[in-house]
Amino acid sequence: MMNSLIVDAWKGKRTDRVPIWLMRQAGRYLPEYREIRAKAGGFLAMAYNPAYAIEITLQPLRRFELDAAILFSDILVVPHALGLKLEFLEGEGPKLETVSTAKDVSNLKTDGFLSRLDPVMEAVAGVRARMPKNKALIGFAGAPWTVASYMIEGGGGHDFSKIKAFFKNDPDGFSALIDVLVRSTVSYLDAQIRAGAQAVQLFESWASVLCGDDFRWCVVEPNIRIAKAIKTMHPDVPLIGFPRTDNTDDLLNFAAAGAFDVIGLSQGITPRWAAQNVQPSACVQGNLDPDLLLRGGPEMVLASQNICEALDAGAFVFNLGHGVIKETDPSHVAVLIEAVHGFKRKA
Ligand code: CP3
Repeated sequence: MMNSLIVDAWKGKRTDRVPIWLMRQAGRYLPEYREIRAKAGGFLAMAYNPAYAIEITLQPLRRFELDAAILFSDILVVPHALGLKLEFLEGEGPKLETVSTAKDVSNLKTDGFLSRLDPVMEAVAGVRARMPKNKALIGFAGAPWTVASYMIEGGGGHDFSKIKAFFKNDPDGFSALIDVLVRSTVSYLDAQIRAGAQAVQLFESWASVLCGDDFRWCVVEPNIRIAKAIKTMHPDVPLIGFPRTDNTDDLLNFAAAGAFDVIGLSQGITPRWAAQNVQPSACVQGNLDPDLLLRGGPEMVLASQNICEALDAGAFVFNLGHGVIKETDPSHVAVLIEAVHGFKRKA
């Protein structure tokens, strides 16, 4: 049996000390990552090579006293396994083949989808076998709206005009796409859990593009369908939702459904507001501004202590409001972890 502080916190317990992991804790800010990237020759060559993926997942745990590892992969392997061409160009981010009609959606290659992700499962099992017993391995996937936005717009730096037009002009085609993503994501997360992931996070990184009814329909509903399906299969595995928005009405709609054990907060959410409005019904995870980690120093430490104090009364896991910025000095991460682990919770 494993005995892990962070799993207790995710399941709603107020733990004796505050556990911490960071989104994008593996990646370009670490010299040992850049070394492997140069050897492998590209992002996908690393992500689909279990030996590299295992090594990169474990790199931040060798350096830092983190409480969890997150699988090294990317949210875009799902559309890739559905048959869309994918490239990661150095310095430019991802480039994904697009879908633009209902016909394109029906041409997605759902047959054999999961078997094309076998190398990911091999990496999950390999990491789990090498993980210290008191730390947890997090699996993940992109949530449907965020993944669909890459599938329709094609890459980074988009303005979401195409996906909004698709959604408004062809609601049936759009919901067929969301359905494919919900089903694929459920089978993908189920497979990660069976391979050894001890919690899973759904990244809805582009949640803030929508609000109100559109948010409810495109963000809340699909996230909840996935969470409920996974809960039925794996009732004891903590589910982390990360609807990256600073709109408190939308965030409350997301959290009120009660489908996730943990709600990840972006840095625009006030921790004291979250303590009153989110933490009573879920563990809260967040939410230091990654820019403060980039800058480091006393300002970062003070901000982290303020977050810990605001969320001290309930279940809480420290994280950033978004991923580690690639120019971050790794020594700032060590200082942050020491500050969070050193935080004295009230008796
Ligand atoms: O958090 C981790 O350490 C685990 C690994 C992980 C990666 N991507 C590795 C990666 C995770 C959880 C992701 C999720 C992801 N990928 C999201 C959701 C989270 C978020 O950041 O909002 C999104 C939107 C993507 C899509 C994506 N992948 C983009 C836009 C880019 C390029 C821009 C960037 O930040 O690098 C990637 C590439 C990527 N994914 C890298 C890494 C380490 C950099 C690749 C490289 O070495 O060039």
